[in-house]
Amino acid sequence: MSEDPRDNYAELGTDIQEILFTKEEIHQRVVELGQSITRDYAGKNPLLVGVLKGVLFFMADLLREITIPAEVDFMAISSFSSEARDQGFVRMVKDLDIPVTGRHVIFVEDVIDTGLTLNFLLRNLRAQQPASLEICVLFDKPERRLIDIPVKYLGFDLPDKFVVGYGLDYHERYRNLPFVGLLKSYVIQSVGE
Ligand code: IMP
Ligand code: MG
Repeated sequence: MSEDPRDNYAELGTDIQEILFTKEEIHQRVVELGQSITRDYAGKNPLLVGVLKGVLFFMADLLREITIPAEVDFMAISSFSSEARDQGFVRMVKDLDIPVTGRHVIFVEDVIDTGLTLNFLLRNLRAQQPASLEICVLFDKPERRLIDIPVKYLGFDLPDKFVVGYGLDYHERYRNLPFVGLLKSYVIQSVGE
């Protein structure tokens, strides 16, 4: 086993400038979040709702740390255009299967950045009258926030930088890294945004 976890991930690891959160640090924080939810939702059978795909590892790991009955569901969205996305408009590609009316819903997200997407989705969910609605986010970029969103369960604050790993991608790559890190600048330049 190598000392630097990047060495185990071939060219994906080579593209990482710096690891911000190790696999162990993420795991520890997810355990704590699971314990808080377990304590707060005893007897409430919470419904955890996530947006694909970035939340996949966080949701899977968080759910396994919740020791009371809990349900899970996913939605998928796509942006109309970059202008529409800037205003927070998204199209629902896959809606939830489980009705949220009267349920104790926990919205689980990988990252909140501007908060525009989340705000749009929350408005949608609130219209369906859940019994309660709270937000659980692994990473928050508070400097980027355009809309105030109260986060009840937070993993870590992030600087205003683009990160990948633990489900987070750059052009669909790097999701499978178990840690979260910054990309080297040549990677971003070579894909060209
Ligand atoms: P916003 O809060 O509406 O600006 O959008 C947040 C979404 O953008 C998240 O759900 C992620 O899918 C994506 N995102 C934001 N920052 C990052 C990042 O650093 N890495 C990967 N995806 C990100
Ligand atoms: Mg997301």
